[in-house]
Amino acid sequence: MAAVIDRIDALRRQGEDAIAAAESSGALEELRIGYLGRKAELPQLLRGVAALAPEERGAVGRAANEARRALEGLIEERGAALSAAELDARLARDRLDVTLPGAPACPVGRLHLLSATWREIEDVFVGLGYTVAEGPEVELVHYNFDALNHASTHPARARTDTFYVAAGHRSAEPSGQVVLRTHTSPMQVRAMEAQPPPIFIIVPGRVYRRDSDATHTPQFHQIEGLAIDEDITLADLKGTLLAFARAIFGEEREVRLRPHFFPFTEPSVEVDVSCFNCVRGLTSDGGRCPLCKGTSWIEILGAGMVDPNVLEGVRANGYDPERVQGFAFGLGIERIAMLKHRVPDLRLFYENDVRFLEQFG
Ligand code: PHE
Repeated sequence: MAAVIDRIDALRRQGEDAIAAAESSGALEELRIGYLGRKAELPQLLRGVAALAPEERGAVGRAANEARRALEGLIEERGAALSAAELDARLARDRLDVTLPGAPACPVGRLHLLSATWREIEDVFVGLGYTVAEGPEVELVHYNFDALNHASTHPARARTDTFYVAAGHRSAEPSGQVVLRTHTSPMQVRAMEAQPPPIFIIVPGRVYRRDSDATHTPQFHQIEGLAIDEDITLADLKGTLLAFARAIFGEEREVRLRPHFFPFTEPSVEVDVSCFNCVRGLTSDGGRCPLCKGTSWIEILGAGMVDPNVLEGVRANGYDPERVQGFAFGLGIERIAMLKHRVPDLRLFYENDVRFLEQFG
């Protein structure tokens, strides 16, 4: 019996040393089969216990069981250490293990306030049946000024006000020269050239002027609107802009039209929305409202009835000024966003300071 127990102890020590020295999970698995597998010596000794004399069974059985459990435990421990080391080695080599769970996603971004406002305004007009059209930012003088009925002496044509694109000269003719568009209105004409009436479009996009201070940047954004059909009146313009003002600034808003001048609309108006920051010009503490300067009205855009001279230029496309008429309007996206969210300085939109951007959306 002592000989069997000695053999068991020898197997155990041998196994312990071999497991501690195993250098890979593969080698460890071979040791497991060699020491604990069905055909291995130790399990065979265990199975042989039944054949021993009854007084020997207890001691041999105990020794063999302890040896087996000890080796099993060591294999498990060594196995865990080896797989961790093997994973580390693989990561160091391959850089990417697609079987690992993903790292938590980095914080999700949001729309810039200008993009959000752009989409919000678009949604209002799409809801009223308008389609969205976009046009070129680099534009012919013909579309930017001439076709929009600007006199040849109109001040906006000056090189001190407007960016002319030197390399874009198409001809010596002033109308063939190229500018960065100063407004989205040129798309009125381009859109009418492209489709016969009726037309109901809005045109969002960038525009450029040589201007730079707290309320002007050389590049900003506008949304143009154009509605032409056989029976459109100034009342339709007012109703449309009232729906717009209420959708953006709140259902209690009113709008007011004041006479103004634009070369391409007649009559032309500036449109005010009733102030949403005060009651009759006074804030709740009795002070003069800073938003409307105590006037109860805030200017939001320019508009008017499309001038027959503009329609004359696209008469061949079905825009006979005796038969169709309509309205146009143009608003600044920055201005709407500043009013609605009380942004004090236009330049905040372009500095991209996350402390500003995070407050919206
Ligand atoms: N284009 C004008 C501007 O930029 C706005 C406008 C558009 C006015 C359409 C009337 C009609 O100031």
